[in-house]
Amino acid sequence: MRRKHGDSDTGCRQWVVFWSVLSATCLAVYVFLSPFFYETFTDNLQMVVKLREDKADCCRGMDHLEYWGRAVKWGSEHQVNTSQECCAACKALCTDDGPCQCNSWVFCGDQARCGPKLGQCWLKKQEDPLNPDVQESGEQVMWTSGLIFGKDVGILALETEHGAIRIKLLPDCAPWSVQYFTELLRLRHCAGCQIYRAEARGSAWDAYGKHINKALTGPPYGLLQGTLAVQAVTFKEMPVEACPVIARGMVGWIGGGPDFFISLANHREWSPKFTVFAHVLAEDMEIVENISLLPTTASVWSGVTVAMLNEPVSIKIGRPDSSNIAEVVSG
Ligand SMILES: *[C@@H]1O[C@H](CO)[C@@H](O)[C@H](O)[C@H]1NC(C)=O
Ligand SMILES: *[C@@H]1O[C@H](CO)[C@@H](O)[C@H](O)[C@H]1NC(C)=O
Repeated sequence: MRRKHGDSDTGCRQWVVFWSVLSATCLAVYVFLSPFFYETFTDNLQMVVKLREDKADCCRGMDHLEYWGRAVKWGSEHQVNTSQECCAACKALCTDDGPCQCNSWVFCGDQARCGPKLGQCWLKKQEDPLNPDVQESGEQVMWTSGLIFGKDVGILALETEHGAIRIKLLPDCAPWSVQYFTELLRLRHCAGCQIYRAEARGSAWDAYGKHINKALTGPPYGLLQGTLAVQAVTFKEMPVEACPVIARGMVGWIGGGPDFFISLANHREWSPKFTVFAHVLAEDMEIVENISLLPTTASVWSGVTVAMLNEPVSIKIGRPDSSNIAEVVSG
């Protein structure tokens, strides 16, 4: 159950000795300790450098992947310079409250392989954006592809005995992570997927997740933690994708997964280095809250007190009943 725990202590100490000019950064590393034991020294250094990426709108795609599907704009007549511009062109065809005319994009950015197709940006409409039509994938593929989920699209349910927690996936921020969920949907089961740790917000945060007692940062930490590893299926470690400052309702990986968390509070005190791939719909946070109050037993991991559920909560992944989907929690 325990996550990787690096030797940040000794590493950091040596670093201060040798590069004392950067000692302020090292101090920040200590301040930002998270309750997951996923601290390694280099991670933290990178974190400080790209601390604010989350503020920009995400527009990420996946290299070496070509989506198929009906074209709404032909790449032969539409060229751009970067995959981000292609993604933005697709997003521009979404209205705020309606469906997206474009829900996927395919860009040719491989200087060596694209030839005359270099810069082509195809805007496409997938029949089922949670099960996109893939033409080809693999190192030799020169295309980069991405998905855009408009309002009410790309919502999955984490079904538990306490209710279905609906989550809105964020393919423009975490495309590889979202692709893992499309694979889980195709598998049609998630044997072994469960929530095993549950901690309420205590008195450090209010019901909206706001940090009201800055002197307290846990335990309890205000989170659910579990695993999305499927029995008998090898889990391929996820790359680091967009890592925002953690807010109430965010769902992200611990390190490269398969362990994940759902946050019950705004955790500005954690370093923003956890890939966030979804938000819980606002009206389903009550189920998350209820699970956080189930009976637990205290345990200590690397000096941090954690609350392990006496009975882990099994998760099934499904498509929610589309008739009652409302707006998502904005974080
Ligand atoms: C792409 O870059 C070239 C050269 O930097 C520039 O001339 C052109 O206007 C750019 N195209 C777009 C669509 O931004
Ligand atoms: C949460 O728990 C309370 C108390 O047991 C219950 O009344 C309520 O219906 C639960 N909420 C949901 C969404 O299941």
